[in-house]
Amino acid sequence: MEPAKHPVISSTGLFTPEDIITNEELVASFNAYVDRFNAENAAAIETGKVEPLQPSSVEFIEKASGIESRHVMAKEPVLDPAIMAPRWEERGDEELSILAEIGVKAARDALDRAGRDAKDVDAVLCAASNMQRPYPAMAIEIQQELGIEGFGFDMNVACSSATFGIQTAADYIRAGNARSVLVVSPEITSGHLNWCDRDSHFIFGDVATAVLVEDAAIAPERHWDILGTRLKTVFSNNIRNNFGFLNRAHPHTAEAPDKLFVQEGRKVFKEVVPMVSQMIVDEAERLSIDPQRLRRLWLHQANAGMNRLIAHRVLGHEANDDESPTVLDTYGNTSSAGSIIAFHRHSDDLKSGDVGLICSFGAGYSAGTVFVRKAG
Ligand code: COA
Repeated sequence: MEPAKHPVISSTGLFTPEDIITNEELVASFNAYVDRFNAENAAAIETGKVEPLQPSSVEFIEKASGIESRHVMAKEPVLDPAIMAPRWEERGDEELSILAEIGVKAARDALDRAGRDAKDVDAVLCAASNMQRPYPAMAIEIQQELGIEGFGFDMNVACSSATFGIQTAADYIRAGNARSVLVVSPEITSGHLNWCDRDSHFIFGDVATAVLVEDAAIAPERHWDILGTRLKTVFSNNIRNNFGFLNRAHPHTAEAPDKLFVQEGRKVFKEVVPMVSQMIVDEAERLSIDPQRLRRLWLHQANAGMNRLIAHRVLGHEANDDESPTVLDTYGNTSSAGSIIAFHRHSDDLKSGDVGLICSFGAGYSAGTVFVRKAG
C-alpha cells in the first residue's frame, strides 16, 4: 500500500516593490487633491450643491490602522493630484504581464529557498484578490514563465486567497493528484484602491508572495508540517467592489466609487474579530492544540487593532511582537499576501517542534486557518 501523503510548506517567497509611499507623502498629495477639488468646485460648494472634501491626516491613519508606509508598483501617478491612480505602459500580448512578472519573482524566491527545480512542480495556483484579466489564467502565464509542466488556474477569495490556495494545494497532495504545488499571490492592490477616498486611501500596498506546498516525502528537511487547514465564508456587503464586465459602460473613477474597493470599516472590524477568533479556537480544539500555547500567530495584516484583539482572544493575554508579528506598518494591507509576508519574514527563528498559525480574513467574508509545525 502507498504511504499516506502529508502536505507541508517547503518554503515561501517574497517580492517587494522598490517604491515606498510614506504617510506624510500620501497625505500631502491627498490634501493637494482636496484643495484642487474644492477650488474647482468652489461655486457648487458655495451653493451647497457639492460637499467640500475634507483633508486626511497622518495621525488619524497611524492611530486608526497602524500603517506607516506602503510599497507600490507606480509611485508617481498615485501621488500626482491630477491622476491619483497607478499607471504603467500597457504591455503587448507577447510580453510577460505585470501581475505575472511579480508573481514569478516571488515564486522563484520560494523555489530557490527550497532548492526545487521548477520542472518538478506539478501545479500553479494564482490566488489573489484582483486578476489583471480573466483569461488566459494568470497562473498559466506564471507556469509557462517558470517552465512548469502540469496545470495552473486562478482563484480569488479576496484577502483569504492565499490560505484557500494552501488548503487547495494540500488537498491535491493528500489526494495524490500533485506532489508539489506553488501558491502564488501577486497583489497589485493599488489598482483597486480609490486613492481619492479619505476613508480608505491609506489602506493598501503592492507585493507578491509564493508558498510551495509539497508532499513531505519530497520536501526539504527543513519545512513546516501542515497540521490542519480550515476555511469559512459568510456573505457580507461590508467589503465590496462592483467592477466587472457587466458594468463596463460605467466609468471606474471618483464618479463611480463602487467600481473600486469600498468598505464599512467599523462593521468589518466588529463582525470579523469575533468570527475569526472563534474559528481559530474551534479549529485548535479539533486539532488538539492548546491555542494559548501557540508559539506564533501570523495574522492577516489589515488593521493593528483587529490583530491585537484576535491575538488576545486566542492566546488569552496581550500578544507581543514576537507572538504576533506586524508587517502592516511598512507594507500596509496587502490583501491575501499579508499573513504570508508575516510568516516569510518572521519564522526562521522558530525551533523544530514549534507550532504556529497562519490566518487570513477579509472580503466575502472569508477566513482561513493553516496550523503549522516546524520540522528539521
Ligand atoms: N484622516 C482624518 N480623519 C479621517 C480620515 C482620514 N484619512 N478618514 C476618516 N476620518 C475621520 C472620519 O471622518 C471620522 O470622523 P467623525 O468621528 O467626526 O465622524 C473618524 O475619522 C473616524 O472614522 P472611522 O471610519 O469610523 O474610523 P475607524 O476608527 O473605524 O478606522 C479603518 C477606519 C478603516 C482604519 C478601520 O475601521 C479598519 O481598519 N477596519 C477594518 C477594515 C478591514 O480589515 N478591512 C479589510 C479590508 S480587506
